[in-house]
Amino acid sequence: MRQCRLTTLLNRNYLVITVQPALTGKNILLIISGGIAAYKVLEVIRRLRDRDINIRAILTKGGAEFVTPLSVAALTENKVYQDLFSLTDEAEMGHIRLSREADLVLVAPASADILAKMATGQAGDLATTALLATNKPVMIAPAMNVEMWHHRATQANIATLENRGVIRVGPSSGDLACGEVGSGRLAEPAEIIASVLDFLEAQEAPKPLAGKKAVVTSGPTHEPIDPVRYIANRSSGKQGHAIAQALCDAGADVTLVSGPVNLPDPAGVKVVQVETAREMLAAVQSALPADIAICAAAVADWRTAGEAGQKLKKDGAGFIPDLKLSENPDILAIISAAGPKRPSLVIGFAAETENVTEHARAKRTRKGCDWILANDVAPDTGTFGGDQNEICLISGTDEKTDERWPRQSKTGIGRALAMRIIDHFS
Ligand code: C5P
Repeated sequence: MRQCRLTTLLNRNYLVITVQPALTGKNILLIISGGIAAYKVLEVIRRLRDRDINIRAILTKGGAEFVTPLSVAALTENKVYQDLFSLTDEAEMGHIRLSREADLVLVAPASADILAKMATGQAGDLATTALLATNKPVMIAPAMNVEMWHHRATQANIATLENRGVIRVGPSSGDLACGEVGSGRLAEPAEIIASVLDFLEAQEAPKPLAGKKAVVTSGPTHEPIDPVRYIANRSSGKQGHAIAQALCDAGADVTLVSGPVNLPDPAGVKVVQVETAREMLAAVQSALPADIAICAAAVADWRTAGEAGQKLKKDGAGFIPDLKLSENPDILAIISAAGPKRPSLVIGFAAETENVTEHARAKRTRKGCDWILANDVAPDTGTFGGDQNEICLISGTDEKTDERWPRQSKTGIGRALAMRIIDHFS
């Protein structure tokens, strides 16, 4: 049974006593970088300690200008680490162990400087070395002046970090310590604490798909015409990536085979990046055997019969290249007919612009998959590249068995599909 701890809160003159489950055994590596907001992190430490979370802290040189090692050590009830080249620290707890024994690395406040160092992989001090050495999830709570926050360099660094899966809390907007007003304020301690607890509690949540292996395809494929041109379908990859994340969150061991997309890798998912349909098929086949296969990729139906080795030139006289096309392998159909290696649940998508469910039902039979998720991609729906989707799950030949899901976010569709799969296997 999980231990509980009493937390007392003063709420409008009433003493409120809440009982919250302890997160005993959870470890956070807290990196405090330089910023006036560092003092607010002391409150974060106190509240996380209330939940029995073990905290080890690294204080950067800048951080130590704003909070003392003594106050951080007193509140974390642990030694505070500051020096990369300290013989005693390395002997007791090397920087690699420090970064690996955490369930989460939290950088709060995250200064513009440490964000730039993280984005460029620098390792000049203990904090940045631990960040480069860690294989654990990283959460950042940026805090800086409004102009520094909006600077293109900082925004590019944030985009790089988020693309690598770093989780961001804040910054919020308001009065800044420097006297200016705008974005760049450290998120309030309550918001940072809530994000950390949500993250740690999600790790504790039941994993009904534990032990199941899933392979998901996502994004478009690019079929080269010559070294600079290609044939492709429209696809952002948002739906396939959301499905991979939802299956992983439910405990499945997920391989995501993705064509070229501009999305961060889903956390905890093994991602194989491919360009062409044939590469996608090979990657899917090498991920088998699996229990579940979901083909959400918009695979190009055709490729050029022979890719030109050099860029095809416009000759100025109106010459038009005569492109010969070959058919690409149909990954969904091949996996659905994979004999003993066939996953027990194979799911495809049918992106249609008219007679959506009729076409999708015919596709399910033709391809031999178990379920088809039909979605309307007519231009007025905004489904392509958008964040919303509307699905009808088709699992039989009788339309009475169709399941229409309400229009919702692609993340919501991913979760709904994971729930439906859990239901199927149970
Ligand atoms: O035939 P169509 O492209 O409309 O079928 C869509 C479904 O088939 C999607 O699930 C898509 O991922 C899958 N597909 C595939 N390989 C192809 C073409 C489509 O896996 N070459």
